[in-house]
Amino acid sequence: PKERGWRTPFLYKYQNFWCQPREIQAIINLQTHFKAHRSDIIIATIPKSGTTWLKALLYATLNRGRYEIRGGGGFQSHPLLFSNSHDLVPFLEYKLYANGQIPDLGVFDSPRIFATHVPYPALPGSVKTSGAKVVYLCRNPLDTFISSWHFIKNVRHDSLGDFTMDRAFDMFCRGVVGFGPFWEHMLGYWKQSIANPNRVLFLKYEDMKDDVVPVIEKLAEFLGMGFSPEEEAAGVAAEIANLCSFETQKELEVNKTGKSISGFENWSLFRKGEVGDWVNHLSPEMGDKMRQVVVEKLAGSGLTFSGF
Ligand code: A3P
Repeated sequence: PKERGWRTPFLYKYQNFWCQPREIQAIINLQTHFKAHRSDIIIATIPKSGTTWLKALLYATLNRGRYEIRGGGGFQSHPLLFSNSHDLVPFLEYKLYANGQIPDLGVFDSPRIFATHVPYPALPGSVKTSGAKVVYLCRNPLDTFISSWHFIKNVRHDSLGDFTMDRAFDMFCRGVVGFGPFWEHMLGYWKQSIANPNRVLFLKYEDMKDDVVPVIEKLAEFLGMGFSPEEEAAGVAAEIANLCSFETQKELEVNKTGKSISGFENWSLFRKGEVGDWVNHLSPEMGDKMRQVVVEKLAGSGLTFSGF
């Protein structure tokens, strides 16, 4: 199947999810050549659900012993003050396996951290069998849609043509969006997180916005590197939260002027960073329509959203 896309001229159905032709090539390349290690950590998201933030949090948590995070000016040399998190944690399909490349992953320090938008069933087999850890981040679909729409309007205004937000919303609700249907994407990882909680951690953007420190602590536990009493006393998780916050990251020079994902300027990755912004853009009827889709598609799964 093929549909006119709004993020891209056309979307095609590949292995039960929608994506662009160049993504299909990269995903086949990834599925064919990527060999996960037991120590790998894979971040998985749907576009616009907070990938940039999770990459930063995971990188900072994992490397907290390597770089001074504690206050008193020690912050200054941290890579997350000079690099966008997408430079530190590359996408498998957008960067490493894009354009027919077969990367040399031997150059990455262990544990390696990679990111992907690929749905769980389509991940390379070795991710599932190696014992690699997967951290999935989910966001309520109304905010994800609004974030996507603004992102595309900002960066692709010339290719939107006659596409209206109403039409894009309708497609989103039908599941026609990159890596969608979104409910299948979420449920794929949700079910794994229940069946294999030591291997798949399921996070929600809304919980992170509510209070990110306990989420950072949970992430550290999941990675087998929980915070020591000394780190707790020193407030290291709170320092990580500050370093990775929307306010800190948005104001960095690299995020005002840099370009870390091909085709996109870094500033476009930091819009509002809020929960519930959809009410400023969508009608109450559109909210109802999406809620109905969610109720129907997620029925019985136990997966719910706030800010919705
Ligand atoms: P909004 O468009 O709603 O503001 P992704 O990183 O997956 O592309 O998701 C982008 C969304 O995450 C955008 O949402 C962006 O503003 C938000 N975001 C980026 N960095 C963030 C941070 N440090 N904290 C909270 N939200 C962040």
